[in-house]
Amino acid sequence: MSELRKLAEDVAREAGAMLLAERPSMSASVETKSSPTDVVTALDKASEELIRARILAARPDDMILGEEGGDTPGTSGVRWVVDPIDGTVNFLYGLADWAVSIAVEVDGQIVAGVVNVVPREELFTAALGEGAWLNGSRLRCNRDVPLEQALVATGFGYSHARRAVQGEVVAAVLPRVRDIRRGGSCATDLCSVAAGRVDAYYERGINYWDYAAAGLVAAESGARIGGLHGKGPNTELTLCAAPGLFEELHDLLEPLDPERDS
Ligand code: IPD
Ligand code: CA
Ligand code: CA
Repeated sequence: MSELRKLAEDVAREAGAMLLAERPSMSASVETKSSPTDVVTALDKASEELIRARILAARPDDMILGEEGGDTPGTSGVRWVVDPIDGTVNFLYGLADWAVSIAVEVDGQIVAGVVNVVPREELFTAALGEGAWLNGSRLRCNRDVPLEQALVATGFGYSHARRAVQGEVVAAVLPRVRDIRRGGSCATDLCSVAAGRVDAYYERGINYWDYAAAGLVAAESGARIGGLHGKGPNTELTLCAAPGLFEELHDLLEPLDPERDS
């Protein structure tokens, strides 16, 4: 397992260094995906290509699921889950919250996660059952924070209809908590829960590659991560906070029906 985590760290560092070096000369032209605001740059693709090449050179029988390149089959029982840039809009605008995210699954269970928040020179790592670290220092999420004092991170999807509902939901949450943060990178937000920089996080519409690595970082810091009604983290809605606050936030969100799109 430590060999897999080491490879994930090495690859996340190499991709991060490439992105930092290439960003200044990046062409302004970007393509769009699910909506005009859902962008992908040439460097998202280059980052994923580099990550795939390094993993397959070291471990040719592994599977890879990547945001830009889809599913690559394999026979080893090990699957890598890759977001080559999480926070592409921040990357485009020169804001600091973007990350290379790599998780490792063995037989369907995430055993290691690495989130390289490149502009901040912060490498978050986690190993199942062993803990979570930021640049080698052990992480513990904030505990015993009541809902009304919680700093809550969230995010918004790319579709207009979904955003309108997300606006309604956040309007109902805002008067009940300390404040809201919208950082622009799901992986960084979850690592912020682990590091005690926010107390909680929730978002509708995130994908597995957004939260696979950072979800393990948060869980190994002591946070609970899951969906509504006892479900695990999922695309419909994912919440994360220390036990206690998790349930309070769940019970605030649930009657707002945050999984709808209209
Ligand atoms: C996005 C970021 C953002 C979240 C979106 C994600 P991308 O990922 O994580 O914070 O609100 O839901 O899609 O598109 O930058 O990889
Ligand atoms: Ca993402
Ligand atoms: Ca991405």
